[in-house]
Amino acid sequence: MKKILSILIALIVLGIVAALALAYAPFKPTPANEELPADWKAEAGRGEYVMRAGDCMACHTAKGGEPMAGGNSIESPMGTIWASNITPDKETGIGNWTLDQFRAAMVDGIGGHGQQLYPAMPYENYRYMKESDIRALYDYIQTEVKPVKNEVQATSLSFPFNMRFGIRAWNWLALSGESNFKPMEGTDQQIRGQYLVEGAGHCAACHSPRTVYMAQNGTRLGDSNFLTGGELDGWTAPALRGKDSAIKTWSAEAVAAYMGAGRNAHAVANGEMAVAIQHSLQYMTDADLNAMAVFLKSADGQPVETVPAKVAAPGPHAMPAAQADEAGKETAKLLTAASPDMPLGARLYLDNCAACHFVSGKGSPEIFPELQGNAMVNGRDASPFVSVILNGTSSPSTDRRPMHLAMQGYADRLTDSEVAALATFVRKGWGNQAADVSESQVSKVRKHTNAAAAPERAK
Ligand code: HEC
Ligand code: HEC
Ligand code: HEC
Repeated sequence: MKKILSILIALIVLGIVAALALAYAPFKPTPANEELPADWKAEAGRGEYVMRAGDCMACHTAKGGEPMAGGNSIESPMGTIWASNITPDKETGIGNWTLDQFRAAMVDGIGGHGQQLYPAMPYENYRYMKESDIRALYDYIQTEVKPVKNEVQATSLSFPFNMRFGIRAWNWLALSGESNFKPMEGTDQQIRGQYLVEGAGHCAACHSPRTVYMAQNGTRLGDSNFLTGGELDGWTAPALRGKDSAIKTWSAEAVAAYMGAGRNAHAVANGEMAVAIQHSLQYMTDADLNAMAVFLKSADGQPVETVPAKVAAPGPHAMPAAQADEAGKETAKLLTAASPDMPLGARLYLDNCAACHFVSGKGSPEIFPELQGNAMVNGRDASPFVSVILNGTSSPSTDRRPMHLAMQGYADRLTDSEVAALATFVRKGWGNQAADVSESQVSKVRKHTNAAAAPERAK
């Protein structure tokens, strides 16, 4: 969420240059992209499903607060951005809004007082949603969500970040290109997947890099940097396309399982992705998860795969541990030999990690993630990986996989130089080819994540 900070800085630079002129030009809202009869009604359940697909709940619900009643804080050093109350309460929510006002918020980033919304609200992506989905969502909010009176604190960032008209200029740059969804040439399944990924799913908000003025660099298929990896507050949202993508070695079936269950044979979702799965993706139907997975793989130029209809069908519970493959053979041999003069990193791995992630680095499907080829282990920025070693991590249960997974942290057991040696070993083991990790990098992560102090070692 701290990316907001950089967005804001860019906003100001731009805002000052261009905003005044634009600010006084009359605003023309984007019209509906489908013509629907006045008495059109979405089928039962559709609006709620769109809400899940768009993950409105995650941002618009405060910790311990009523669903969608706002007050969730998004921190930035210039101040806090407060997510709005979007329940149908007439005074403090959006109960009095017309469909046109709602569409303007979703598509053009215009709030209830005609104010420009900060792009923390992902209208860069929602603008690709079809009118029928926007209307289903609008009707759902107005008629099915419980109205909650909750006056959300006004966002007041320090000068000049409080000048919302600056966003007008930013939008002019960021939202160039028409807002209509452009279906690819492909099967209905691919197109459905494309629609969900580009629009409601707002995957690009995290998984695309940013432009110099901090707009999403690539919001749709055909944009060269679309989903090639992004940065969020010290965590990496891995590339889903392009040369750095780890999922190009996963089957589409495995991608769908990751999104729907939070884990698969390769990896476990942590951080912001775990949150997205908890509130949004786990509620997607098997058909839609498969559609997104098949689209993602084909968007990277790979053949369209056939996937089983059921996502993350329960598998066998006892299976033989995976053997090291060709790329992992050397490392597995070194660890198995366990010679007393093996390098420090290897010894630390054997002592601390091998019991679960195994000498093969392949772990055990859906419990102990694979470290070979793992996106977090091999990330350009090693901080998330170092943070997992220091602090451990956990991932929530989902309906498809109720078991809660957790890994303990090693902050009080390993010194910074030991963690550096261990992390470097793992980033080079089993054919991994990521850069070394230094002691000072580890100290930084230890400080930044408030991890426990390192143990004292006798000299
Ligand atoms: C990543 C976080 C995030 C997600 C996801 C998100 N929003 Fe928002 N939304 C915000 C923030 C933050 C604001 C307030 C921005 C501001 O004050 O400029 C906002 C503002 C709004 C507003 C304007 C309210 C007003 O009173 O002006 C509406 C309407 C809205 N969101 C609807 C939705 C809907 C519907 C969804 C799901 C499809 C959604 N949002 C998903 C963060 C989010
Ligand atoms: C709020 C930010 C955010 C959003 C939105 C988001 N992701 Fe993620 N995603 C992440 C992060 C962070 C990770 C890395 C998780 C980890 O390190 O365990 C991730 C990991 C993944 C992975 C695993 C990649 C790998 O190589 O291990 C897949 C697949 C994925 N996301 C797909 C999606 C799709 C599809 C969408 C849209 C429907 C999406 N994500 C939306 C932040 C996000
Ligand atoms: C007692 C078993 C256990 C031990 C020992 C263990 N881990 Fe884990 N590890 C897990 C589990 C379970 C997870 C999945 C939890 C999650 O990601 O939320 C995990 C997750 C991870 C992840 C995240 C991968 C992903 O795809 O999200 C990394 C990296 C990792 N472990 C590295 C290590 C390293 C390095 C060591 C040794 C210092 C180690 N683990 C020791 C059980 C263990």
